[in-house]
Amino acid sequence: MTLRGKNAVVTGGAGGIGLQVARQLLVAGAARVAIIDIQDNLEEFVKLRAAHPTQSVMIIKMDVANKKGVEATYEEIKKTFGSIDIVVNVAGIFNDKDVQRTLLVNLGGIMNSSLSALQYMSKENGGNGGIVVNMSSVVGLDPMFIIPVYGATKAGIINFTRCLGNDKFYQRSGIRFATVCPGATMTDMFTNFTEKIIFPETSDETYKILDRLSKQSATDVARCILSVLEKEKNGAVYVIEGKRIIPIDMKPYWTGKEQAL
Ligand SMILES: NC(=O)c1ccc[n+]([C@@H]2O[C@H](COP(=O)([O-])OP(=O)(O)OC[C@H]3O[C@@H](n4cnc5c(N)ncnc54)[C@H](O)[C@@H]3O)[C@@H](O)[C@H]2O)c1
Repeated sequence: MTLRGKNAVVTGGAGGIGLQVARQLLVAGAARVAIIDIQDNLEEFVKLRAAHPTQSVMIIKMDVANKKGVEATYEEIKKTFGSIDIVVNVAGIFNDKDVQRTLLVNLGGIMNSSLSALQYMSKENGGNGGIVVNMSSVVGLDPMFIIPVYGATKAGIINFTRCLGNDKFYQRSGIRFATVCPGATMTDMFTNFTEKIIFPETSDETYKILDRLSKQSATDVARCILSVLEKEKNGAVYVIEGKRIIPIDMKPYWTGKEQAL
């Protein structure tokens, strides 16, 4: 898929990886980019608009955990843009002490936005189809014992996105779904880390583990997400590490499953 001239939605686009995805989509020639975020980042939004005066940047302040609000937001974007071709769902939080909120934002938010994207992009409803990329994490693939709540939401995102990435859906909707799992990335997400973990007795060990991790930049992760969009591989799961996308072979374990399922 060429990104030039396309209309895109980025959740969590006010900061961190999401802001870099929005910026790079504009640099790649996307015609219109809508940013859905619970926060404002006026300074960055002004810069984005100034750098891309002939492209459209729409900002919508919305909590992705709010299902009705997300649906209404998609309706507004579709009305304004005419069509939606690309969705990158990046919004997420880390706070293992708040289980409910972590589930509602990380897993619920991805579900709300993906299902709204299906409704507003599907060829069955007069859309053009397109691609949705959902943000998981390497800890959604490999358990990291210090962050079980966050990790569980990220594992859930992989399964949810792989279900929607079934070709049976694609044949009807024309929408492809892929998952990205970045490794540690330098953003604000893990600030005050030890205040947000549920096993404080692991905090010394945690700091050592975090220090040892090699961390990539949000810009590099965003660049990799753009190449995932261009690849358009339905149902694919990629690790993003060291400026590379690494396709993951998700092996089947359920031997009793019928082929048709
Ligand atoms: N930083 C990492 O090491 C890392 C690694 C793998 C995956 N991720 C994932 O990447 C995504 C982005 O993280 P980041 O590191 O850029 O963090 P970040 O905190 O810098 O950015 C997250 C963005 O999401 C927005 N957001 C949070 N809750 C929201 C809500 N309820 N509704 C709408 N927007 C909301 C925030 O306002 C912010 O702009 C997250 O899903 C995170 O889990 C991060």
